[in-house]
Amino acid sequence: EEAGKGEYDHFMLKEIDEQPTSLAQALEGRIDPENGRIALADFGPGTFTDVSSVQLVACGTSYHAALYGSLALNQAGIRATALLANEYSAAAPPIDDETLVIAVTQSGETADTLNALRQANADGAETVTVTNVVGSTAAREADETLFIRAGPEIGVAATKTFSSQAVMLTLLAQRIAADRRGEPPADLESLLPALARMPAEIERVLETSDAAAVANRYRGSQSYFFIGRGLGYPVALEGALKFKEITYEHAEGFASGELKHGPLALVTPETPVFAVFTGQEDAKTLNNAEEAQTRGAPLVAVCPDGHPALETADAHLEIPDTEPALAGLLANVQLQLVSYYAADLLGRPIDKPRNLAKSVTVE
Ligand code: G6P
Repeated sequence: EEAGKGEYDHFMLKEIDEQPTSLAQALEGRIDPENGRIALADFGPGTFTDVSSVQLVACGTSYHAALYGSLALNQAGIRATALLANEYSAAAPPIDDETLVIAVTQSGETADTLNALRQANADGAETVTVTNVVGSTAAREADETLFIRAGPEIGVAATKTFSSQAVMLTLLAQRIAADRRGEPPADLESLLPALARMPAEIERVLETSDAAAVANRYRGSQSYFFIGRGLGYPVALEGALKFKEITYEHAEGFASGELKHGPLALVTPETPVFAVFTGQEDAKTLNNAEEAQTRGAPLVAVCPDGHPALETADAHLEIPDTEPALAGLLANVQLQLVSYYAADLLGRPIDKPRNLAKSVTVE
């Protein structure tokens, strides 16, 4: 296994760096920007014509991808909810024969997610698994599968699989909406070329990131906050989860607008706030971030160059300017790098954090 790291000290950084390739692989043959079409041959014609609502079930990082997918579905006009798979048996929303349940699981073996998938199958839902592992239990047990083709991920903290899950769910959301309406959604025209540009844009983030300097500047802080709105919200949650998993420092993710409803009480000059700007309702997010900054918190803006947030931000993690549907995923790469470098400064065992396993096969 060690040999597979090549020139890298850790699999995590190698896997972060692999994202341009893993995403290109995921998209290969599945989009057709020239003709303005999704080409998801993974599903037969009209597979989702009868779908009136979607439930996405997942755990951990995959839950954040599922939340991303649910918001993309809602924005595409399809009723959708993301649910923690381990909570599903206690209180699943009712299922009818127009309900699609999507299990999102990198490994395809997470016990909590398999339980939820089995319950959905037993209750008569149409089911899809979005996974990285061909032949996994979740892939075998769902009606349909969508493989994310990320390649093996060794680091316990998921990185490239999250990006590929979120992108494939974005595409699937558009496909479901298209099947449902019988015509392609209007926003496909700008989304498809933006998807095709993503591998190169991630490459640019990787080549120019200031994440190591930002991690160093805020080392030793009391707590790290991550905020975002809309599709930036699951990215904020994922940014915080990654940070706590590998640095062992306290980190929390919040919806930007929720800061003022409680978490603001924790804000001090020792709580840097990483704000994710996606290009959707950014003025509101900036307003929320500035409320924390007024209380002394350093503001790290994750946004394109020339963004209004840079007038007040204390630090900048730059992302290329893209569609709001995808900007959060570029921001996520910056946040992955911040976590990595923060953990490295602390000398943590980055690929194998204490108490965590790559795949949890018990309830
Ligand atoms: C474990 C891992 C997490 C992962 C979660 C779900 O807890 O440590 O990184 O997100 O399982 O895994 P899955 O394979 O279902 O995506």
